[in-house]
Amino acid sequence: MTQVIAIDGPGGSGKSTVSRLLAERLGAVHLDTGAFYRAATLAALRAGVDLEDGEAVTAEVARHRLEQEAGRMLLDGEDVSADIRTPEVDRSVSVVSAYPEVRRLMVDAQRDWVRRRGGTAVVEGRDIGTVVFPAASLKVFLEASPEERARRRARESGLDAEAVQRELRRRDRLDRSRATSPLRPADDAVVIDTTELSVDEVVDRIIAALGRVGEASPPK
Ligand code: DC
Repeated sequence: MTQVIAIDGPGGSGKSTVSRLLAERLGAVHLDTGAFYRAATLAALRAGVDLEDGEAVTAEVARHRLEQEAGRMLLDGEDVSADIRTPEVDRSVSVVSAYPEVRRLMVDAQRDWVRRRGGTAVVEGRDIGTVVFPAASLKVFLEASPEERARRRARESGLDAEAVQRELRRRDRLDRSRATSPLRPADDAVVIDTTELSVDEVVDRIIAALGRVGEASPPK
């Protein structure tokens, strides 16, 4: 049986760190769906496709095989984990991920990934609770203040905090306003503001929420 725990939220809300630790504590597999959109963007950039041309971008993305193995992102078998974290990919990923046909390809690949693994999966992204796995056992939406999110991203990337905050704002605007699968909490999501919390505290809260879900619907 497959059980999905959906972790959504904007960049810098703590999704990746929290999801990895949560998966470790639950003995679950972990899927980072942002890495799929980043690898699709890298494929389009490498091919020199005009990113404003949705059809051309979709056709290029459809040509490639995306896979995630042991936390590494593979594009046609090549480990692109580092290449998908460049400022160029950061700048372009919101454009690529706004195309409905690209999203359809990514959603199919992500559902397929979870189906093949089976068991419990912690899946992080922007639309996991709303679109990819609307029947997830637990849906979590993480938030944090814009200043804290920029501080975290700047720490990770070594870039200037103000520039990071400008880029996060731009990406937030695009992610929240796109027509297909905009970033928003699912109606039944547990919303956690991580600004003042440690990673362990966030994971503890999620595990407690998971326990409450289990009590509300005991296994048949
Ligand atoms: O989580 P991240 O920063 O690696 O995500 C990169 C981009 O991919 C982000 O700007 C929005 C997009 N994305 C998405 O549209 N849907 C997802 N499920 C995951 C990421």
